[in-house]
Amino acid sequence: MNILILGGGGREHSLAWAVMQNPKCDRLIVAPGNAGIAGIAECAALDILDGGAVATFAEENSIDFVIIGPEAPLAAGVADRLRESGILCFGPGKAAAELEASKRFTKEICDACGAPTAAWARFTDAAAANAHVRAHFHAQAARGESKGGDTAPIVIKADGLAAGKGVIVAMTLDEALAAVDDMFGGCFGAAGAEVVIEEFMDGEEASFFVLCDGTDVLPFGTAQDHKRVGEGDTGPNTGGMGAYSPAPVLTAALESRALEEIVKPCVAEMARRGTPYQGVLYAGLMIKDGAPRLVEYNVRFGDPECQVLMMRLGAQALDLMLACAEGRLAGAGVNWADDHAMTVVMAANGYPGDYARGSVIGGLNDTLEDSFHMVFHAGTALRGGQVVANGGRVLNVTARGGDLAEARARAYALVGAIDWPDGFYRRDIGWRAL
Ligand code: AMP
Ligand code: GLY
Repeated sequence: MNILILGGGGREHSLAWAVMQNPKCDRLIVAPGNAGIAGIAECAALDILDGGAVATFAEENSIDFVIIGPEAPLAAGVADRLRESGILCFGPGKAAAELEASKRFTKEICDACGAPTAAWARFTDAAAANAHVRAHFHAQAARGESKGGDTAPIVIKADGLAAGKGVIVAMTLDEALAAVDDMFGGCFGAAGAEVVIEEFMDGEEASFFVLCDGTDVLPFGTAQDHKRVGEGDTGPNTGGMGAYSPAPVLTAALESRALEEIVKPCVAEMARRGTPYQGVLYAGLMIKDGAPRLVEYNVRFGDPECQVLMMRLGAQALDLMLACAEGRLAGAGVNWADDHAMTVVMAANGYPGDYARGSVIGGLNDTLEDSFHMVFHAGTALRGGQVVANGGRVLNVTARGGDLAEARARAYALVGAIDWPDGFYRRDIGWRAL
C-alpha cells in the first residue's frame, strides 16, 4: 500500500513509525512531516487544509490510504473530499468532526443520548453570559460556601477550535467575567462567538481512545496526559508535557462504563442523525467516585497520548486503522501486550509563552532507538545537516517497559542522552500513577 499521513508533529511521527513496522506499507509520505519523520518516510509540502489539493496529491501519488492526524483538516472537511474521490481515509468528515469543533454540539449530543457530562448553558452575548456567571457565584455566596474562600469554580469555554486554549477554569467571579468578556471580545476570533459555560467537575482526568467505523466501536487504549507546564502540575496549560499508557485510573470496569454509558450512545446518536462517526474518538473523561463523565471529545489521537499508544501497538495500528476505515471493526480486536509506555516532552525554553526557534539539538544520532525506545520529533527541522528546534514542544522521548517504572527509567535515560541546553522537560511524568 501507498500511505499518506497528514500532519507534522510528534503524533504523526509516532503514527509513521507504527505504519512503517507493518509489511503492508510499501511507501509512506507524510505532509508536511518534520526532521524526525524525514528519517523514516518521504515528506511533502502540501496545504493539508485544502481537500482538493490533498485529493489531487493522493491521486498523483497512487495513495491507497490517508491517515489524518490533526483536527484542523478534519474540521475543514478534508476526509469528505477524499471519500468523494474514492480514496480510503481514516478520520471523520466535517459533520462528525463537530464533536471537537463545537463544544455546544457535543453537549447537545450528550443530552440527546443521556451521556453523563457537566451541566451547561450556551450564550451568544456577553450580558446574558455574565448574568449566568454572577448567578453562580451569588448562589454560592448565599449558601455560605465561599466563606472559607472555597468557591466552586465555573468553566468558561469558547465554542469553537482555539488550539487547546479556549477553556478557562475560573476560580473567582472577576476571573469568570473577564473570560466571558475576552471571548466575546474576540480573543479566540470566531471560535468565541458562542460561549459554553459549564459546571466544574472534580475528579481525576483520563483519556480513552476508541476506534469507530460508523457502527461498531473498538477500545483502542487509555492514557493520562500532563497539561501543566511545571512539575507537580503547576503553571500554565500546555498541549501536554508527557503521557503514559495505560491509565491505571481507568480500570476495566470504568472503561466498560465509559464505553456503554458515554461512547456507544454518542456514536449511535451520530449515526441516527445521518452523520456516522468514523475514525478515532478521543474521550476526555473525569473520574469521580467510580463513575466516568465526559469532559470533551476530540476527533483525533491526542498528542502526546498517541506516542505512547503507538509505542504499545506497533504494526497492528495500521491494520486496525484500515479495518476502521473499511467498516470492518465488528470482527477486529487489539492484541495488547502486558506493557506500559511513557513519553516525556522536551520543550523549548519559554514554552508555552514565547520561545526561540533554531537552537541545535545534539546527541540524537547516538540515542538508542528500538521497539522499546523512540525519540519522536514534534517540532524540529533540518538545517545544514543538523536537527534544530522548530516549535514549542520539540521532542517526545518515549519508552516501553514491563511496568510504568521501567518505562519511566528508560524514557528518562534517553532524555539524558540528548544534548539540548535550550530545552526543558518535566521530571515527574507519571507521578500520579507511580
Ligand atoms: P477541554 O479543551 O474541553 O479538554 O478542556 C481543557 C481542560 O479543562 C480539560 O482537560 C479539563 O482539565 C478542564 N475542564 C474542561 N471542562 C471542565 C469541567 N466541566 N470541569 C472541570 N474541568 C474541566
Ligand atoms: N494532549 C491533549 C490533546 O491532544 O488534546
